[in-house]
Amino acid sequence: MKRVLITGAKGQVGSELVVEAEKRGYDVIGLSSAELDITDRAQVKAALKKTMPVALINAAAYTAVDKAEDEKDRAYRVNADAVKIMAEICEQENVPLLHISTDYVFDGNKSTPYSELDQPNPTGVYGASKLAGEQALQATWDKHVILRVSWVFGKNGNNFVKTMLRLGQGRDELGVVNDQFGAPTAATSIASCLMDIVDKERFGEPDFPWGLYHYQSEPGVTWYDFATTIFAQANKLGVLGKQITVNPIGSEQFPTPVKRPENSKLDGKKMQNVFGVSAGDWEQELLGMLE
Ligand SMILES: NC(=O)c1ccc[n+]([C@@H]2O[C@H](COP(=O)([O-])OP(=O)(O)OC[C@H]3O[C@@H](n4cnc5c(N)ncnc54)[C@H](OP(=O)(O)O)[C@@H]3O)[C@@H](O)[C@H]2O)c1
Repeated sequence: MKRVLITGAKGQVGSELVVEAEKRGYDVIGLSSAELDITDRAQVKAALKKTMPVALINAAAYTAVDKAEDEKDRAYRVNADAVKIMAEICEQENVPLLHISTDYVFDGNKSTPYSELDQPNPTGVYGASKLAGEQALQATWDKHVILRVSWVFGKNGNNFVKTMLRLGQGRDELGVVNDQFGAPTAATSIASCLMDIVDKERFGEPDFPWGLYHYQSEPGVTWYDFATTIFAQANKLGVLGKQITVNPIGSEQFPTPVKRPENSKLDGKKMQNVFGVSAGDWEQELLGMLE
């Protein structure tokens, strides 16, 4: 039975990866941060040598975007140094490394969706540390896939959907930013996309189309649009039991320590062309989560 090793297995994406890989018949070793600290070289080496998977999938990350400004060392240790450690050990053991990155490597000043050829220019420590992780992997080990995703939501972990539902319990009216564009993407779809790659013929071979890919669900919206849909669906399903009025606001009315990209749209054409994996439909994905 083919085996996959998954780090960050209790996170939003990590937990769905465990489910997806098991569903596809893999022997899944999913390790939480308590079971495998990716910043610890000896632990990573021992885990890889013990399991010898067909792929190491790194779903572990430091993801606190604003807090990272005050915890720069920690963000870099997890998002950059640990990725280099994993890349070095994967190279020694000839194990492909699949790694997840983010739209926050971009400044968001472009008006059309970002392709893999666009120049990154992160606006904060989190994005910069994730970019450093990408670069460390690219410089260290050829057999890698870096999957940049955005606006992740799922039933496990913290995300915008859960925040909206929590706020909606205590209030009847909310202001949500309507001048940042992106696309919500379900952790389940990201897990499925990554496993589609592992499942491909010639996975593991040197001539496999290793490299950088973008993946995002559709359609593109603002956070305000997303919130409106969350409450509409929640109402239909009787999740909240009351109507919430959502008002569109500008980013200047909701200041954050790190400026969010105005445009977080990712172009998924390369993913579609190379691996045949098309964008998911986040409204359906959301319905699945709420149900
Ligand atoms: N969330 C988003 O909206 C978003 C958007 C774009 C890209 N991404 C990327 O998508 C990937 C998955 O994100 P996610 O939303 O699933 O994040 P998440 O829910 O925060 O999960 C990350 C997991 O990593 C674990 N972790 C942190 N430090 C670790 C360490 N040193 N060793 C081992 N595990 C460690 C965390 O464990 P503890 O909780 O125990 O610390 C947590 O379970 C990340 O690469 C992230 O950068 C996320």
